[in-house]
Amino acid sequence: MLTYALSLLFILQCASVRSVYSTSIADIQGSAFRSPYEGQSVQNVTGVVTMKLSTGFYIQSDPVQDARVSTGLYVYSSSSKVLGTVQVGDMISLSGNVQEYRSKSYPTYLLGTQLSSPTNVTVLSSSNTVRPVVLGVDRSHPTQYLSALDIGHDGFLTVPGNQSQVEVKNATSQPTKFGLDFWSSLEGQLVTVPKPVSIGFENAYGEFWVRGHWKVTGGNARGGLTLVFGPDGIPDPGPEAVLIGTPADGTKNPTMCVGKTLSDITGVVQYQFGFYYIIPLTAPTILTVPEATVPSTKLTSISNNGCAVTLGDYNVDNMGPDSSHLPTIATHIASYLKTPDLMFLQEIQDNSGKTSDGTVSGNVTLSKLSAAIASQSSVTYNFTEIAPVDGQDGGIPGGNIRPAYLFNPKRISLVSGSSTGGPLDAVKPVFGHDGRLTLNFNPGRIDPTNAAWDTSRKPLVAAWQTASGARFFTINVHDASKSGGGSSVQGDPRPPLNIDIEQRTAQVQVIASFIKSVLKMDPLANVIIVGDFNEFVQTRSAFAAFNGIAFEVDDLAGLAPEEKYTYVYGNLMEQLDHIFVSPVMALRKVEVEHVHVNTWAPSYDAKTSDHDPSVARVRVCGL
Ligand SMILES: *[C@@H]1O[C@H](CO)[C@@H](O)[C@H](O)[C@H]1NC(C)=O
Ligand SMILES: *[C@@H]1O[C@H](CO)[C@@H](O)[C@H](O)[C@H]1NC(C)=O
Ligand SMILES: *[C@@H]1O[C@H](CO)[C@@H](O)[C@H](O)[C@H]1NC(C)=O
Ligand SMILES: *[C@@H]1O[C@H](CO)[C@@H](O)[C@H](O)[C@H]1NC(C)=O
Ligand SMILES: *[C@@H]1O[C@H](CO)[C@@H](O)[C@H](O)[C@H]1NC(C)=O
Ligand SMILES: *[C@@H]1O[C@H](CO)[C@@H](O)[C@H](O)[C@H]1NC(C)=O
Repeated sequence: MLTYALSLLFILQCASVRSVYSTSIADIQGSAFRSPYEGQSVQNVTGVVTMKLSTGFYIQSDPVQDARVSTGLYVYSSSSKVLGTVQVGDMISLSGNVQEYRSKSYPTYLLGTQLSSPTNVTVLSSSNTVRPVVLGVDRSHPTQYLSALDIGHDGFLTVPGNQSQVEVKNATSQPTKFGLDFWSSLEGQLVTVPKPVSIGFENAYGEFWVRGHWKVTGGNARGGLTLVFGPDGIPDPGPEAVLIGTPADGTKNPTMCVGKTLSDITGVVQYQFGFYYIIPLTAPTILTVPEATVPSTKLTSISNNGCAVTLGDYNVDNMGPDSSHLPTIATHIASYLKTPDLMFLQEIQDNSGKTSDGTVSGNVTLSKLSAAIASQSSVTYNFTEIAPVDGQDGGIPGGNIRPAYLFNPKRISLVSGSSTGGPLDAVKPVFGHDGRLTLNFNPGRIDPTNAAWDTSRKPLVAAWQTASGARFFTINVHDASKSGGGSSVQGDPRPPLNIDIEQRTAQVQVIASFIKSVLKMDPLANVIIVGDFNEFVQTRSAFAAFNGIAFEVDDLAGLAPEEKYTYVYGNLMEQLDHIFVSPVMALRKVEVEHVHVNTWAPSYDAKTSDHDPSVARVRVCGL
């Protein structure tokens, strides 16, 4: 009896010691974004070391039933004594402080759970193995949403952003529905990406995005993920993709492009630099590379049809007269776009390139491009532009980038009778002496003093005539840039902050007012609106002003949503460049192709521009 009582006492003591002194990794991680132990010290945490870095290591304990709860944990320490004590495969126990960490310099990042100031690091056994979670097999990714907090018609693209914050809300994780919750539920755990496919170029640090052998939505024929609307009509942010970081063993990731297939990647899930990453144990090897040949457009000029006009659109990425990429741009226009009748160009620099010397005219830049194209084709393009006021239209300082047109004088000409507008002259539709609709300035800029255009390009409008006399109006657009601000799509503010979206929305509204002024004078006017809008049409709020007056040719032509892209950024291939037509043209046949000379480049350095060019064939008369 006494023995029994003593042993019961012993068991009770052990139980109390355990409850007071031992905390599991699962307890620390919990089922919400922030740890229930945040700010507390914990004792006797046990786990197997899965990876060592110069600033700490990861430990992992046995799996738990609850898919919301991670059983991996980052131990932050750069102490050589601590790092020298543990080896991968060691089962250890340790004490430390639970922290939710993000750099003070990046308040819009998510927090990462970590154990800091480790003490009592004790190796209990060695050579243990941890079975990685095989993604797509053991755990399935959500494919539609990143966060339950992205509430609104446009999902993660809803404006305004930052209506709530992940870390303030601290909701219980829903890992089968939301991407951030999914990755958070695996934080610190060892995972394997089976049969990875790279879906972009590597960044400056050699990091790159992949999807694995699992179900994806928005997958395109090249292997990437396209920004599309999901089945419920909400834009899909591609939660099934993940960044691969710098390998832990000092090996170097290979060069990436869209569509390379790779050997399986095993590593630890870690939020860093604004995204969920997998830090691989070692660099993957390349198994296959995608076909290098980019098909040229099939949409060539139709010589006997007075109504069909071919259009090209190309953001030529800060091109001055001496740019080393000018000859390649010329090759793209001559060989891949097949010299469209009218080229809409953006980012043409002035004659002194990016030197800031008061030069504003870009006629040397355009002449050189025209000459380079003529040397490779049967077309000698003429050009037209309006030089901006020095330093007023944004872009690289001194470059004075502007939209401009190249046109084939054998196919179309500017409607005569109006002079070229100055940079501050507002273009307006007017009836000419012949009673037909034309412009007061040809070309002219839309409402150039409107605040919507501050430090941004003013759209360039022109009136054209075909050889058979059909008339059409064009608007060449380069809206305010998306770069240099906002918050990560995997960041704390929800929906994410979209930099300068208010300005781009206002710019679309000013363009829409101009289109309406034309349609008011002639409801059957041919108006073609083309360029780099620096925004996706999935941000529907930004394009609302176009409803009923401008229709995107991709939709009219029935292009598959997955193949609508001209840009690769982060985990998505997406479309910033758009071609819209007025109602009468939407009733006629339209054709369009995006020519992937840049998004399909074999490496980041092999790109000529960050944008792909596009070609459309539209009808400006007939049925
Ligand atoms: C986050 O949620 C967990 C689980 O509900 C809770 O224990 C913890 O205190 C919360 N933290 C914060 C900062 O709200
Ligand atoms: C760790 O927990 C075990 C029981 O699980 C206990 O025997 C031991 O004393 C604890 N160590 C520390 C340092 O708290
Ligand atoms: C470290 O372990 C010793 C016993 O081995 C214990 O007395 C002490 O409280 C532990 N310290 C921490 C911070 O856990
Ligand atoms: C997001 O909103 C919160 C709450 O209003 C605010 O504290 C925070 O500064 C905002 N973040 C950004 C980046 O604007
Ligand atoms: C550029 O414009 C200037 C001023 O109108 C003119 O003198 C010059 O000949 C033009 N150069 C080219 C290459 O068109
Ligand atoms: C080129 O276009 C300009 C208007 O921008 C026009 O004055 C000139 O005559 C055109 N040249 C040719 C060869 O068509």
